Amino acid sequence: LKRDPKYAQLTSEHVAFFKQLLGSESAVLDGVTQDAGEDLESYNSDWMRKYRGHSNLVVRPGSTEEVSKILKYCNDNMLAVVPQGGNTGLVGGSVPVFDEIVINLARMNEIRSFDDVSGILVADAGVILEVADNYLGERKHIFPLDLGAKGSCQIGGNVATNAGGLRLLRYGSLHGNILGIEAVLPDGTIVDDLCKLRKNNTGYDIKQLFIGGEGTIGIITAISILCPQRSNATNVAYFGLESFEKVQQAFREAKGQLGEILSAFELMDGRSQNLYHTASGNRLPLEAEHPFYCLIETSGSNSEHDQEKLEAFLEHVMGEEIVSDGVVAQDQTQIRELWGCREGVPEHLGHWGGVYKYDLSIPINELYALVEETRAKLSEAGLIGETDEFPVVDVVGYGHMGDANLHLNVPVRRYDKTVEKALEPFVYEWVSKRSGSISAEHGLGIQKKPYIGYSRSETMIKLMKQIKSLYDPNGIMNPYKYI
Ligand code: FAD
Ligand code: MLT
Ligand code: ZN
Repeated sequence: LKRDPKYAQLTSEHVAFFKQLLGSESAVLDGVTQDAGEDLESYNSDWMRKYRGHSNLVVRPGSTEEVSKILKYCNDNMLAVVPQGGNTGLVGGSVPVFDEIVINLARMNEIRSFDDVSGILVADAGVILEVADNYLGERKHIFPLDLGAKGSCQIGGNVATNAGGLRLLRYGSLHGNILGIEAVLPDGTIVDDLCKLRKNNTGYDIKQLFIGGEGTIGIITAISILCPQRSNATNVAYFGLESFEKVQQAFREAKGQLGEILSAFELMDGRSQNLYHTASGNRLPLEAEHPFYCLIETSGSNSEHDQEKLEAFLEHVMGEEIVSDGVVAQDQTQIRELWGCREGVPEHLGHWGGVYKYDLSIPINELYALVEETRAKLSEAGLIGETDEFPVVDVVGYGHMGDANLHLNVPVRRYDKTVEKALEPFVYEWVSKRSGSISAEHGLGIQKKPYIGYSRSETMIKLMKQIKSLYDPNGIMNPYKYI
């Protein structure tokens, strides 16, 4: 990949423009006219430390008008940009590839309004997900998305990636929950579609293009979103099973017996739990080891009633020998501990140095077969082992069983081309043969740029390119990424 010479090189005049526009010192991090030291590093490298750009300028607008003026100037001057939220994305989409200007939304962090009758929240894109959820919690509501990175990801970034998360099976996708968007196009046009209506069939639903668009057609500056009432009662169970066949049976039973209160059904294989235990030092909830574990959460209106149902479910599946062993959390601390075993997996898999991550939709009956085949392939190639000479630590699978979304992860001691070549395009071919998706919820970013054809037809890619050039004719928005 080469820097495209059509983009201008940053000069001190450009920097002077941004400094004058944004006024405050903290709004511009400048490595062009001065030494920015280490400060630019965190904006240039991604969460996995796998992708690293070389931007010399980070701008942090404080209002939609400022975003508009920044983009118009960049567009007029052919300066390429990368929109950036909390920089927790997992496909290298949120960092520059070369010297693109980083437009970070962190300073746009106001809640604009909330209506506790309709449950509609309107907020700036830079609000941290956990802050939005806590705000809603105080008003007996919940943000209809939750994920392990909630403490640092921003709701604008969530929308731009169409993040799925831990409770999609209950609350559905952002494509359904987002009611309106305010965004800025590269030419500075403010798209004012901050609609607060549940129903609005008046022509094309253009906001959908921004949801999951990964910052390639414009910058989202605010959203309006439908938020459900927070349930009075949450209960969590964690259990071990001896085969993936049994995991599927347990999922069927859970839908049958807990359907209306089920709010999460997550899968973790034994290896992911062992690595979590080793890296975190936290003990695992069950005494014996099991090849698979599931975490079930219920959310309903009556704790005792829900707990009774959950215990009856566990008794039934253990009686039928579907589940080998299990626990139901007795208090909030235990709920957090059980969730920790699931939510803590991504962070702790990075313990050895790096992780190759694949986020896939696969027909549910074949979901785990890929993990076994990948492990066999890397073993045969002599790449997995316990000592430093082997790049690969292990091959593990976990994910959102309720959405047939597998996270195939390969923790490594170092990023290594031989490992990457053994994995890609093997994984994508495997998924494509089964009509799955090579990106269930993380997006394509730069990681999957060469592989979009495994999930989308030529016609669909052509239509995407037409949309891209309609909204961003100069191609300044997040270049070199998937489109
Ligand atoms: P960034 O990483 O900053 O950006 C992501 C992409 O969106 C980039 O392409 C960027 O250019 C673009 N972008 C960001 N903000 C804007 C904006 N305002 N306007 C336009 N474009 C923008 N994902 C899931 O789907 N489910 C999970 O369960 C999940 N769990 C995670 C757990 C951990 C520990 C981590 C690190 C990540 C997880 N993710 C998960 C990945 C997920 O994509 C991100 O956490 C989150 O949605 C990205 O938000 P962000 O603010 O960090 O965006
Ligand atoms: C998760 O489900 O934990 C996230 O999508 C992050 C990951 O895939 O590791
Ligand atoms: Zn996930």
